[in-house]
Amino acid sequence: MLQINPDLNDLVSDAASRLLSLLQSEATITAAAPGRVNLIGEHIDYCDGFVMPFAIDRYIVIAGCSNGTSDARVATALGEEIAIFDVSKPQHEGEPKWSNYIRGVICGFQDRGHHIPGFDACIHSSVPGGAGLSSSAALECATATFLEGLLDTRLETKEKALLCQKAEHDFAHVPCGIMDQFASAFGKPNRLVLIDCRSGEPDLIPFENPDLTVLISNTMVHHELSDGGYAARRKHTEEGLAILGKASWRDVTAADVQASWDRLGAPVNRRARHVVGEISRTIAAAAALARNDFETLGPLMAASHDSLRDDFEVSCKELDIMVEIARKIGRGGGVIGARMTGGGFGGSTVTLCESRKATEIAATLAAEYEKTTGITPQIFASRPSQGAHLVQ
Ligand code: GLA
Repeated sequence: MLQINPDLNDLVSDAASRLLSLLQSEATITAAAPGRVNLIGEHIDYCDGFVMPFAIDRYIVIAGCSNGTSDARVATALGEEIAIFDVSKPQHEGEPKWSNYIRGVICGFQDRGHHIPGFDACIHSSVPGGAGLSSSAALECATATFLEGLLDTRLETKEKALLCQKAEHDFAHVPCGIMDQFASAFGKPNRLVLIDCRSGEPDLIPFENPDLTVLISNTMVHHELSDGGYAARRKHTEEGLAILGKASWRDVTAADVQASWDRLGAPVNRRARHVVGEISRTIAAAAALARNDFETLGPLMAASHDSLRDDFEVSCKELDIMVEIARKIGRGGGVIGARMTGGGFGGSTVTLCESRKATEIAATLAAEYEKTTGITPQIFASRPSQGAHLVQ
């Protein structure tokens, strides 16, 4: 029932052989960048909050080489339409849609004065798309890392992540925060990437207890309202902060929100309550995890989900069902905590559980979810893994 994470080396060699068969080119540079899962701290990276994601053991790989022309020719291992575009010119959006992530990152390098030589590349992925696991950030970070190899240059990790975030804003039109690109760029084995989004500094905190397992359950649904829904939530938080007259959500207390409840008005007041609550829950969760206090951590994850469902309204029926099944299994069955993860409107849940019960829990999640929804979910475990890197 637990899916096996495809081996990164297999992904790399498949990408190289697809590059050869599709574009007749030999890979000389290969970059890999992971997706992420977030343990807690949702929809607050764009509110100066704290978030606690980690890089998962699922990657986007780009294998390629320079081709001596001014064009990029980019194929995917799935054999989709090949993207061909001139990289000697300033970049703009184009078809196929997925190529915009690549164009956006190239644009970031051009903005920094780099001349990009033509290249051939093939993209391969083990990050499920549309599952709230940041396949887009992984593609951006893999592209940036591939370009570092191609140009024989290195960006500071933070600069690389910010360049990728800008690509997402400008070329995919998603006004995302910094969590996904930071997790994909900074991830390390056995480390969570605790990010203070006000200072913009990540703190790599240990997560090495072998008795703990993180299960990721992809509900396999992705509701269409997602794009507009994300931007609308972000706008609500900006309106809320302006009404409260504060410079940062970190300066707002739960009492401030209550005192201004009517002035904030619906739904901004509920959005505000989520932001303030989630910031304090994430700080408390990091402290609880550090002292192995799972009796505190579990309820914090539960409260996070409830707040995302009721106050921030980014959950959906399928995510709620998956979380509810985990809750029913409960502490006695080895579940420490469960919640939706990522932007929401579909996608995945994260379940923190005892390793010795993980397989059984995954089986119950899969069976009960399928029984209730008729949908077969995709469930896998992941430990914190290496962030974006060139593969030797
Ligand atoms: C998406 C965005 C992130 C973050 C999450 C919600 O993944 O890309 O920046 O806002 O949603 O926590």
